[in-house]
Amino acid sequence: LNFNVSRERRYILEVLFNGLRRLEYRGYDSAGISIDSCNCSGSDLNRQIVTPPLVFRQEGNIESLVKSVYHDVDATDLNLEESFSIHAGIAHTRWATHGEPAPRNSHPQTSDAGNEFVVVHNGVVTNYEVLKETLVRHGFTFESETDTEVIPKLAKFVFDKANEEGDQSVTFSQVVLEVMRHLEGAYALIFKSRHYPNELIACKRGSPLLLGVKELAEEASIGSSFNDTKFLSSNGQPKELFLSSDANALVEHTKKVLVIEDGEVVHLKDGGVSILKFDQDKGKHEGTLSRPASVQRALSILEMEVEQINKGKYEHYMQKEIHEQPESLTTTMRGRLIRGGSCKAKTVLLGGLKDHLKTIRRSRRIVFIGCGTSYNAALASRPILEELSGIPVAMEIASDLLDRQGPIYREDTAVFVSQSGETADTLNALEYALENGALCVGITNTVGSAIARNTHCGVHINAGAEIGVASTKAYTSQIVVMTMVALAIGGDSISSQERRETVIDSLFDLPSKVKEVLKLDQEMKDLAKLLIAEQSLLVFGRGYNYATALEGALKVKEVALMHSEGILAGEMKHGPLALVDETLPIFVIATRDACFSKQQSVIQQLHARKGRLIVMCTKGDAASVCVGGSCRVIEVPQAEDCLQPVINIVPLQLLAYHLTVLRGHNVDQPRNLAKSVTTQ
Ligand code: G6P
Repeated sequence: LNFNVSRERRYILEVLFNGLRRLEYRGYDSAGISIDSCNCSGSDLNRQIVTPPLVFRQEGNIESLVKSVYHDVDATDLNLEESFSIHAGIAHTRWATHGEPAPRNSHPQTSDAGNEFVVVHNGVVTNYEVLKETLVRHGFTFESETDTEVIPKLAKFVFDKANEEGDQSVTFSQVVLEVMRHLEGAYALIFKSRHYPNELIACKRGSPLLLGVKELAEEASIGSSFNDTKFLSSNGQPKELFLSSDANALVEHTKKVLVIEDGEVVHLKDGGVSILKFDQDKGKHEGTLSRPASVQRALSILEMEVEQINKGKYEHYMQKEIHEQPESLTTTMRGRLIRGGSCKAKTVLLGGLKDHLKTIRRSRRIVFIGCGTSYNAALASRPILEELSGIPVAMEIASDLLDRQGPIYREDTAVFVSQSGETADTLNALEYALENGALCVGITNTVGSAIARNTHCGVHINAGAEIGVASTKAYTSQIVVMTMVALAIGGDSISSQERRETVIDSLFDLPSKVKEVLKLDQEMKDLAKLLIAEQSLLVFGRGYNYATALEGALKVKEVALMHSEGILAGEMKHGPLALVDETLPIFVIATRDACFSKQQSVIQQLHARKGRLIVMCTKGDAASVCVGGSCRVIEVPQAEDCLQPVINIVPLQLLAYHLTVLRGHNVDQPRNLAKSVTTQ
């Protein structure tokens, strides 16, 4: 934060704490904050040099940090009324990669007991062991098990060396540029230092970083380029500047953001901003960083409302996001479905794809690449894409593609599916596909994300901010987007026109059908009560709904912390049948489509083994699915076969939600999981 109005310390702390609360969904095992210990502007500047920044770190959630800052004995001299005309503070919430959750492993990590350099980091430094060895040889001692700790220590090393060599005028950005030169891996970093009061430096490579600018000068309109001076107000300063790895922390302050790119170094000094470009290769080879180029770029506007990141009338984000699916699906389709006039055909219009459709139609293969729920959404859309495009569609889990270094060809279209657009595995797979010359298409929910920026073309899913770690509304919107992609690719075929039009009609009806299926809420809660003490749940599906089985099981597993497995019903006799007895609950998806009779036969075989069945079927089909045994039936409305997965997942989402609440677990922040996995 850089103020040109005086603000007290309490305000500064609250802004930082609130920012952390907005990010808590991404990781939450520990948190930390660093603020100035005194008003360091003007004549107080020298006080700051002798008074290091305050650092607080705490294991647990944000509220434990808040408590410790306000009540900790170390903080007794925290003068909450003290006012600041300029203040630079940093904060971090952590999800452990290196080292257990503990204050010493939390961020900010520091260079020394005097907090000469303090750093918050999102990402992983892959060469930290080598750097650590070198720093230890130079007398540094380490107290954490994190990879991050090498960064502030390296900064101190660089700073001390410059001073020893007589360079008293080494700037903060020079120090950071030199540090970057030695770092390998992925990072978004923010540095603070007692040597540079009122300054912050942020830089990134691989991990996301946004700069938010609040209350710009009148002359600085959107679309103007961003440089050192244009964003200064009449008295020479913007009012507040924010840096964050996530738009959720910014949106309540400002919607005007600059997406920081790899290699850029943002320097906030006395309320002003400058951005430099660090050329990693040049930096490495030439060993000189004294004159990096300065950067000019346009600000963008976040398409996001604060209400989207509040829970509204709901108790949990996951619950809210499940129930808002009729609206999120409507937004996803808005402006993209054309019903046509009396003699015109119904079609879809995807602006981000239209210039590439010809190339995609000529592809040798389409390869879907994603992780977790995004992978499942792609799997659900595969049959309709194959049907309408006539092109083979391969499925790749991003990490597995990379592990195998599986073949990707110039003639391939690689489709990257990711809610966040920042998942490290998916991003690495994207880099790999780009190197191999494939046409890369992005399907993401996050405008300005790395996947949105680095693919050749793509479609935003426009489901609105999704906060619950377990993805729900993004999943259904992804299926709808990929169905629209299939319609667009197949749009030149006359023989499939009728089918396409039926699918388009069904898309129009989808939000109201999802509204209808949401009425099963109480029924799914009752079912959850029955299953509350179970150890395991199997979910059988096939065809369009194989993905529903995988995704339903994933939901139960990740939030309710109950073992659950999605099973391809066609594989039943090749293993899973051995598990069937009177006790294990089995959920079978048997809604009407071309596989219906095969599913009826699966149900009969499960009955024959006395399986404990819960069957999901199309409304009115209860009698025909439950022949030859007793079972609990969940009836759902019918959509066109390729869109039925959107309907069918909803009861399973509700079941996972209620099971979790009844079992007393954290729905929005399941144990050990984070919303966006930006490290490998
Ligand atoms: C994490 C989340 C999952 C998500 C997956 C892929 O594992 O917990 O809910 O499906 O990442 O995330 P993406 O943002 O790429 O869709």
